[in-house]
Amino acid sequence: MTSSTQITTDIHTVVEILRRGGVVGIPTETVYGLGALATDSVAVDKIFTIKNRPRTHPLIVHVGTIEHALKWGVFNADALRLAEHFWPGPLTVLVPRTSLVPDWVTGGRDTVAIRIPQHHITLQLLSELNDALVAPSANKFGKVSPTTAQHVLHDLDGLIEMVLDGGVCDIGVESTIVECIDEVRILRPGAISQQDMEKVLGCAITSDVSGKSRAPGMMASHYAPNARVVVCASIQDALRQADSFRSAQAKVSIINEPNIDIYARDLYALLRQADKDHVDIILAVKAPPVSIGIAINDRLAKAAAHKDEHPRGN
Ligand code: TXA
Ligand code: MG
Repeated sequence: MTSSTQITTDIHTVVEILRRGGVVGIPTETVYGLGALATDSVAVDKIFTIKNRPRTHPLIVHVGTIEHALKWGVFNADALRLAEHFWPGPLTVLVPRTSLVPDWVTGGRDTVAIRIPQHHITLQLLSELNDALVAPSANKFGKVSPTTAQHVLHDLDGLIEMVLDGGVCDIGVESTIVECIDEVRILRPGAISQQDMEKVLGCAITSDVSGKSRAPGMMASHYAPNARVVVCASIQDALRQADSFRSAQAKVSIINEPNIDIYARDLYALLRQADKDHVDIILAVKAPPVSIGIAINDRLAKAAAHKDEHPRGN
């Protein structure tokens, strides 16, 4: 650990740090990850300490090629079809693990979550490393994921050596997680939608993103800024609520973006900005419940649930 964290664009330096067991912020198309060599138990353990994340929460394995993925996971025909169609891309496939996968990656589970990220810098990094990286989102546990290198620095300065700067994440919300074991089931909504996958598979799939899902870390309280988040049905609803909160002396900000791709890309930066501005209440207008709009609404609901469970001040 160092006293202050550097932002770099030098992939070779990052490769060296990872090879000697360091932990580095890395860009992906979804959010920034906190990367470590999946095969290095000491390095992976540092991730849990840095994030303050329970060690029972398994990590996503990031690889550079499908061949590599097949060494770590047992892919059935559906899993393979989805991987071949959507990788590199914002889709994490949950499959039975092979004997190569260490327990410290999966929290002892018999499944493993794998993806190939769609970001040229991280693809180059994975290719130079020729190894797998685990990478949870590079934020403190339960907080808002980072979508710029500066966000990572804000959250983890002094706790990691480097952040590899890949600019603003294109997509802005975490990958879709799809379980391909007995049936195909979405566990976390993301940019790849149920319809996208049904089109590729040619059959209906299910979705269990209720929080009762089998993926730990999908519980209600998550993605939470310090401000209280209130989800609004429409901009009119948000304006109405803004009036009433303001008359009670609260500092309010409204988040509303009709273009759902832009909404997803900017959402976490806007939540973070509200905290910087010491806003009390964020009124976030629901996205239309289609494609990535479903993922936006999922994250908003979890950000809002946080403050219902832990009232302001805690
Ligand atoms: O877009 C993303 O997926 C980002 C970027 C950095 O790739 N990563 C990310 O990782 O969101 P994380 O750790 O913040 O979220 C991964 C989720 C967790 O809720 C974890 O419990 C679940 O995936 N997960 C990972 N492996 C699993 C497994 N074997 N079984 C069930 N859930 C698993
Ligand atoms: Mg996360």
